[in-house]
Amino acid sequence: MTGQELGNESRVCLLLGAGGRMGRSFCQHLGARYRIAAVYRNGNSTEVRRQERVIDPLAPDRPAPEIRTHFYPIAADLADPTSSERIVELALAAFGHIDLVVNSAVHYDWGPGTSLEFLERLPRQLTINVVRPLQVVAEMYRKSWHATPEENRRANRNVVNLSSVAAFNVYPDSGQIGYSSCKAALTMASRHLALELEPAGVRVNVIAPNTFPGIVSVEQVLATLCELDSGSATGEVRVLDRRSKTIE
Ligand SMILES: NC(=O)c1ccc[n+]([C@@H]2O[C@H](COP(=O)([O-])OP(=O)(O)OC[C@H]3O[C@@H](n4cnc5c(N)ncnc54)[C@H](OP(=O)(O)O)[C@@H]3O)[C@@H](O)[C@H]2O)c1
Repeated sequence: MTGQELGNESRVCLLLGAGGRMGRSFCQHLGARYRIAAVYRNGNSTEVRRQERVIDPLAPDRPAPEIRTHFYPIAADLADPTSSERIVELALAAFGHIDLVVNSAVHYDWGPGTSLEFLERLPRQLTINVVRPLQVVAEMYRKSWHATPEENRRANRNVVNLSSVAAFNVYPDSGQIGYSSCKAALTMASRHLALELEPAGVRVNVIAPNTFPGIVSVEQVLATLCELDSGSATGEVRVLDRRSKTIE
């Protein structure tokens, strides 16, 4: 099914980190549910495109005739200060509006808090993991959402930020001081943003999983994402762990 055949009903998702574990699964499993502005650092969407071709079960070896879902790949390095504005501009130009922003990009950098070299690098981690996702949402607000509160409510527009159980837990000798601090910051920033965007009719929620795939399944993360997108919650943190819980 082409983008046109999907019609105007399919929701539009701006997905950061489309080339990662979660991003690839999102594109693979939810590509028929959403039209996706897929942000890659390397701009390489080949893998996803290969996955989403229609396969005829009676002739699985026959070359796929068309792409089933509608992707708009955007190559961007979130370390680049101009990236948030560019990403939003391109996504809006491609689809006209965005219903869901998913931040699934992450920059990992492990190290001890006593290392000056590590601390020198910490701003980069904070920028990519916290500041840039917030800037993307701020650009969405500035360029589109602030002018259309009623439409936003009708379309149930929202943001889902991927945090981690590392936002709440200290794992000894893990070197996660930077990662954990980023996730804690992203989690709390999202909860504040939920209040700030309420008048604009845009919801903001967080998913904080333990390791996936492993302790948590990727399917569980995707199901929680779909539940948040189709529901009415805002300012919530869905912790996905051996025992899941919601922080309101
Ligand atoms: N997987 C887990 O066990 C787990 C557990 C808890 C929370 N989480 C969180 O869930 C989210 C998704 O996790 P994941 O496992 O899918 O992560 P992942 O596989 O490491 O993917 C992260 C993506 O972020 C992109 N990225 C990194 N730096 C970037 C930059 N400067 N500019 C643009 N893109 C950049 C990477 O792009 P490239 O591919 O081009 O490098 C990568 O595709 C993350 O926020 C993560 O912290 C994951």
